[in-house]
Amino acid sequence: MPAELIIRGGRVEGHDVPVDVAVEDGWIVAVAPSLTAGAPVELDAAGRVVGPAFVEPHIHLDKVGVAPLLPANRSGTLAEAIELLHATKRAATVEQVAERAGRVIRQAVVAGTTVIRTHVDVDTIGGLKPLLSVPRTAAEHADLCDVQIVAFPQEGIERDPGAAELMARAMGEGAHVVGGMPHWERDRAAALRHVDFCLDLAVRHDADVDMHVDETDDPRSRTLELLADSADRHGWGGRVTAGHCCAMAAWEDPYAAAVIARLAAVGVNVIANPATNLMLQGRLDSEPRRRGIARVKELLAAGVNVACGQDCVQDAFYPFGAADQLQVALLLAHAAQLSAPDEIPHALRAVTTAAARVLRLQDYGVTAGARADLVVLDAESTEEALRLQAARRWVLRAGRVVAETETRTALHRDGRH
Ligand code: FE2
Repeated sequence: MPAELIIRGGRVEGHDVPVDVAVEDGWIVAVAPSLTAGAPVELDAAGRVVGPAFVEPHIHLDKVGVAPLLPANRSGTLAEAIELLHATKRAATVEQVAERAGRVIRQAVVAGTTVIRTHVDVDTIGGLKPLLSVPRTAAEHADLCDVQIVAFPQEGIERDPGAAELMARAMGEGAHVVGGMPHWERDRAAALRHVDFCLDLAVRHDADVDMHVDETDDPRSRTLELLADSADRHGWGGRVTAGHCCAMAAWEDPYAAAVIARLAAVGVNVIANPATNLMLQGRLDSEPRRRGIARVKELLAAGVNVACGQDCVQDAFYPFGAADQLQVALLLAHAAQLSAPDEIPHALRAVTTAAARVLRLQDYGVTAGARADLVVLDAESTEEALRLQAARRWVLRAGRVVAETETRTALHRDGRH
């Protein structure tokens, strides 16, 4: 079998012994021990983990990197962050947004991510400017990474008169996915209209739906059930995703269990954003503070597909972020208390197979017939990679090496080196 590239001796999930991964024309053509054929490019994994490249299912590339331009978010809340961003949203040029987004795309690729779903604001403050900027950057990085664009009404739809028209235009002008933020509307009736507007728009454009849902500590915020019901009514189940879902942490157990069962029945995906939400939620609480993280273990136990995303990099919501999904997975493990041996793998699935399912990626994985988007982790097991935040030795996208990292560390004893 001809191959243009072979990764030799890698540890691949589902195989008991190290295997070779052969790639031809951008696709994996064989995964087996000791392939006899050679290839022009051979990478010696030497017992390292070879996994599918990471998938970033939830980030805001139109806002990344603006933190140095802003006053501090003193309350640390979502509301103050949104307010602070109004000024940069108005002032930023298409070129500035594109430049900042490009920097983070390249960072993500170096960290092993080859597919990104990004929200971009669609509102009457910035208009469709983010939607001009981010796809331009995505096109400039098409050799490194695929980018799905979500039209995101950050300021609400009814609460921001004119946003509905902009959302409709956005879906005709480059956005792939319909976003939403129903809890930001003034009341439950408006939230329901918001959700139905988005689902109708998605069905019209044959698009997925990916909303920001209940990103608050307020247990009265219950728009997730509206989304599940609307997804069901529209027959759109597996194409609908709910991000953040922080209020779930504050709901009473019986109500949370009922909504989680509903999500599972309808097939709605959930994305937790542990980095941002550990930073933002519980800010107005006295001790003990609510953690504001979706109930990951209960969702998983019910059979809900749970992914996680970086969400923010250096913006008004969150001052850190490295666009590194291995870091986000480790944060998820902490935030959701995934500590038992059978729980830890879920943290990695949240940035690989579960995230790929949210984006409905076909041909994902380390198996013959899958696209050769791969990451070689400088570790002998995925658990070790997670624990030690292993270097990404090589990153492949469609069979081509797009990033590599070499690390050299020495321990000197008795002053000898
Ligand atoms: Fe978000």
